[in-house]
Amino acid sequence: MNPQPSIVPLRRGGDSGLDAVTGAFSYSGRSIAQALLESGRTVRTLTGHPGRAPESPAIDVRSLDFDDPIGLAASLDGVNTLYNTYWVRFAHKNVDHQLAVENSRALFHAARQAGVQRIVHVSITHPSANSSLPYFRGKALVERALAETGVPYAVLRPAILFGGNDVLINNIAWLLRHSPLFAIGGRGDYRIRAIHVEDLARLCLEKGSESGNSVTDAVGPEQPTFVELVNMIKDAIGSRSRLVHVPGSTLPTLSRIVGLVLGDVLLTRDEYRAMANALADSDAPTTGPTRISQWLVENGSTLGRNYANEIKRHFEPAGRAARSASEFVESAR
Ligand SMILES: NC(=O)c1ccc[n+]([C@@H]2O[C@H](COP(=O)([O-])OP(=O)(O)OC[C@H]3O[C@@H](n4cnc5c(N)ncnc54)[C@H](OP(=O)(O)O)[C@@H]3O)[C@@H](O)[C@H]2O)c1
Repeated sequence: MNPQPSIVPLRRGGDSGLDAVTGAFSYSGRSIAQALLESGRTVRTLTGHPGRAPESPAIDVRSLDFDDPIGLAASLDGVNTLYNTYWVRFAHKNVDHQLAVENSRALFHAARQAGVQRIVHVSITHPSANSSLPYFRGKALVERALAETGVPYAVLRPAILFGGNDVLINNIAWLLRHSPLFAIGGRGDYRIRAIHVEDLARLCLEKGSESGNSVTDAVGPEQPTFVELVNMIKDAIGSRSRLVHVPGSTLPTLSRIVGLVLGDVLLTRDEYRAMANALADSDAPTTGPTRISQWLVENGSTLGRNYANEIKRHFEPAGRAARSASEFVESAR
């Protein structure tokens, strides 16, 4: 996509009234964009799927094209705050976490070039440059790149998100609806500290209005173990599926087989290892008020009615993915 002229001229030192969000038609970016619009901001999105935009979008749509650094900077021209959700969940075909680190660096560089005044960046709990998990190592490198950019920033670190058109919790519910057995890796006693996606969005806006640099865990009030969480989902949707404990080492293989049948990647070996090693938990103060237990009770009737396919959402050519995303939204209503 060719860079287009900005819709709002940059007033350096002042607030242009325009903010940019990556992925306003995907998951967390959608909630952040909505919260920004509701607060009276003008919103531009950078997305790999401009075709997912509604017919008369309230949002200015630009391409998230990392191969075009000049276009990327032009797309950020006039932007006051960049809300960055860009990342890749797992390596697939020619996309991996190392590429996502390089792309994130290019995005931050473009933001600095464009005179963006603040970056609110969504990361992950427990990023570590020494991690053996490429996701967590990559996230640490991205946080470092952000700090080196020189643009004031706020980092928000969620463990797992729920609400809206999420993948993980939705697909656990989908499996519990469709399978007589549900496999739990090991004892399943690792804790999950999830935050509602709209609480994350509110937190992003709060951090967008602050000055100076900060790093905050974005976490809800509850810390169920994985087994407790699956039981909560099971009760909420009225599933009669039986939970079966399997050795942790076999869970990724089982998940791979089910993934092959569904044409998706259900849960990677690294994602399981991360959960089992308590990386989806945090002892930080609560920053999002929504209780997952309560939310599940209120949303059980619709949760997991449709399978959310990560490969179709993010790894297929934009045209096919656009259809998949709208199918998901339509059928979820
Ligand atoms: N979802 C969770 O449970 C969770 C938990 C902890 C941390 N986080 C973090 O929260 C942030 C946002 O996550 P999210 O689930 O809300 O993500 P998302 O909306 O699915 O995607 C966020 C952005 O990344 C782009 N993207 C995703 N996968 C891609 C791929 N394979 N190739 C190219 N671009 C890709 C999307 O592009 P399009 O605009 O083209 O869709 C979108 O702009 C990420 O940094 C993630 O690490 C998420």
